[in-house]
Amino acid sequence: MKLQQILFSQGFGTRRQCDALIDSGAVSAAGQVLRSASADIATDGLVLTIGGEHWPFHERAYVMLHKPAGYECSHEPKHWPSVYELLPLPLRQRPTKSAVNGVQAVGRLDQDTTGLLILSDDGQFIHRMASPKHHVPKVYEVTTKHAVTEADVDALLHGVVLNDDPVPVAAAACERVTPTHLRLTLTEGKYHQVKRMIAAVGNRVEALHRAQMGGLVLDPVLMPGQWRWLTADDLAKLRREAPPDK
Ligand code: URA
Repeated sequence: MKLQQILFSQGFGTRRQCDALIDSGAVSAAGQVLRSASADIATDGLVLTIGGEHWPFHERAYVMLHKPAGYECSHEPKHWPSVYELLPLPLRQRPTKSAVNGVQAVGRLDQDTTGLLILSDDGQFIHRMASPKHHVPKVYEVTTKHAVTEADVDALLHGVVLNDDPVPVAAAACERVTPTHLRLTLTEGKYHQVKRMIAAVGNRVEALHRAQMGGLVLDPVLMPGQWRWLTADDLAKLRREAPPDK
C-alpha cells in the first residue's frame, strides 16, 4: 500500500496532511525515515513511528476502553465530556464507509457507569455485537442501595416488568456477591436496563460497572480512561458468543 494511503487509512488526517507529515520527516518504520508518499509498503506487521509515537497498522480498529464515570458515550455529549476524547486523534478520524468517521462504541454505557467499552470502525462487527438478536452476554457488577434478598434474585432471574414495557425481562445470571453487590448477566441491551431492573425490585443502583462482554473481560491493567487494541485472541473471545448472521 502507498505510504500516503497507509497514513490516511490510519486516521492521520487528509491526504494533504499525510503528505506534509511525510515531507516533514516525522514518519519512520524499522528505524528508517520514510520520505516518499508514493512508496509501496507492506502493511503486514508494520509498525510506524510518527512524531516519536509507535503506531501499529490495523486494517480495522478494535479497541477496549476502561470507561471512567463522568463521560458520555456520544459524539455530541450534552452534559459531560465524550468518551471519544479519551482516544487518540487517529482513532477518532479514521475514514470509514459510514457518515461518521472514526471508531464507534458498541452500545452505550450511562454517564455514571464504568468499565468495559468496545469501540470499532467495523460497522458489521458493531452491528453483530450490539444486535439484541445475537444475545452477547454482558456482565455487570452492581452496587445497590439496599440489601438484595433471595426473592429479589429469583425475580431478576425469572423476569421483572420494566416501567415502559409489559414483556418481562430476565437476567441470564444473577449472583449475590454480598447483600449489596450483585453480579448480573444480561443478554439484551435495553435503555438503562440494569437500573430499571433493580428499580423493579424496589431497590436502587448506587454504582454500576461492566466487567465482561461475551468471553472478554476488561483488562485489569487498564486504569479508568485507558484503552488498548484488541488482540486476535480477544476478538475470538468476543465473537464466540455472537455467531455470524445467517
Ligand atoms: N444498564 C444500565 O442501566 N446502565 C448502563 O450503563 C448499562 C446497562
